[in-house]
Amino acid sequence: MSTNPNDWWREAVVYQVYPRSYADSNGDGVGDLPGITSRVPYLRRLGVDAVWLSPFYPSALADGGYDVDDHRDVDPRIGTLEQFDELVAALHGAGIKLVVDIVPNHSSDRHAWFREALAAGPGSPERERYVFRRGGGADGELPPSDWTAAFGGPAWEPVGDGDWYLHLFAPEQPDWNWAHPDVRADHLRTLRFWADRGVDGFRIDVAHALTKDLTEPLPSKAELAGLLDGSHPLFDRDEVHEVYAQWRELFDRYDPPRTAVAEAWVPAHRRARYASPEGLGQAFNFDLLKADFDAAAFREVVTDNLRFAEEAGSSSTWVLSNHDVVRHASRYALPPGTDENAWLLSEGKDPVPDADGGLRRARAATAFILALPGSTYLYQGEELGLAEVADLSPAALQDPTWRRSGGEQKGRDGCRVPIPWTAAGPSHGFGSGGAHLPQPSWFADVAVDRQDGVEGSTLEFYRQALAARRRLRTGDDLTWLPSPEGVVTFTRPGGWTVLTNFSHPGVELPAGRVVLCSGPLRGNLVPQDTTVWLEDEPA
Ligand code: GLC
Repeated sequence: MSTNPNDWWREAVVYQVYPRSYADSNGDGVGDLPGITSRVPYLRRLGVDAVWLSPFYPSALADGGYDVDDHRDVDPRIGTLEQFDELVAALHGAGIKLVVDIVPNHSSDRHAWFREALAAGPGSPERERYVFRRGGGADGELPPSDWTAAFGGPAWEPVGDGDWYLHLFAPEQPDWNWAHPDVRADHLRTLRFWADRGVDGFRIDVAHALTKDLTEPLPSKAELAGLLDGSHPLFDRDEVHEVYAQWRELFDRYDPPRTAVAEAWVPAHRRARYASPEGLGQAFNFDLLKADFDAAAFREVVTDNLRFAEEAGSSSTWVLSNHDVVRHASRYALPPGTDENAWLLSEGKDPVPDADGGLRRARAATAFILALPGSTYLYQGEELGLAEVADLSPAALQDPTWRRSGGEQKGRDGCRVPIPWTAAGPSHGFGSGGAHLPQPSWFADVAVDRQDGVEGSTLEFYRQALAARRRLRTGDDLTWLPSPEGVVTFTRPGGWTVLTNFSHPGVELPAGRVVLCSGPLRGNLVPQDTTVWLEDEPA
């Protein structure tokens, strides 16, 4: 295990806060920075090493804040720069690091440079900072290509003078032109701005999309399919690593060096360069988000990713939930293969989720990943065992996915509902007013104050797991032990044994002293959907 304090990120437990939905200090229904600061004692007690803040920058919220008007400021609804400094001080005072989200693929359409680009007209240098192209047809009335955006609809938006601009996400999120020196310089300035304010690390949004090859003629959508080797004009191009090499130089000028983690949706074998020490240093592996709760599937994902991380000279990352996916307590409550979007469209009724089983499996999976080498990313509310809020009415939805897909994709609001702190009171203790996304009545049963100090509650289970992990974590090694079908067992150096029973009727408890159980044992048997951690008995 590294004893260099600069390597804190290698085995960190990083807790993701979605600022608008965490804690609202002024009762306006929107979570804010003072709200988060007020919860630092809770985070300390939970035992996390770092907090990752999703965007809190000025934004029209066309995409939950990932449409950034000004990357070097705080949205007035969320706070001020002074309040940001107070949050940094409170977290650091509690021994917790801070990671902020950087959104470099696009700005918002309200960004000063985009407004200038629109005003300056076709062919102007201002337009070169973004990706403008002439439309086809006699008067430029046709899009430059047939590409579609991630949230649905065309990836090009006309501006009324024959030019169209590229947006891989919502139309309110114009893509930057990363071939432009202004764009590069401005992002370096942004990184310095936050690093100088004491931020410890950065989470890089869609890190694989920045650099693009838009040589004409543009290929058709059909021609783009299957280009996974660096030849895709929009994603995962080799040149993107020149950007990150430059960022790494900047990060390493700080003491301690600033860290970064890439959100790069690339095939596993292409992840290493993002995670290399010359690049961002770490990259998310979302493989478990896509895997069924299945022994063989989990073991394969772990084996592969430990190898990839080693090849990259990094440590692996483990994630079960975040602000973009159905919460894992709900995913595991649905039969394998369920179409999650269809389930959300049925308001969570078809199929009927097995809520108890889902929570059991979620806790078992969490205990499994927390015992792995590498760092773990937790998403706010999962420590309460929160399920997805699947029955949000269409009128309440904020995610652009819903509108852009013409109501075919329900989107990600169900995991972004403000979390319940108290069973009673307005917005369950989120704030003194309402909540910007409606909270369901069952939030009362899972609120923090209902679980605090209650033996066996999910909150106490997370606290216990993080405390034990802090004591036991032991570097990069893991050894698989032979196990019956449906069971995975491994040991870590220092006498730490971990067993997860995914699907066996009941497997015998290995030798050792039990330090953590994700659910009750049955005498000497570990029941299905349960993880147990054991420590060697002192000789
Ligand atoms: C990332 C974010 C997601 C956002 C998208 C566009 O995938 O996690 O929430 O919508 O980038 O910025």
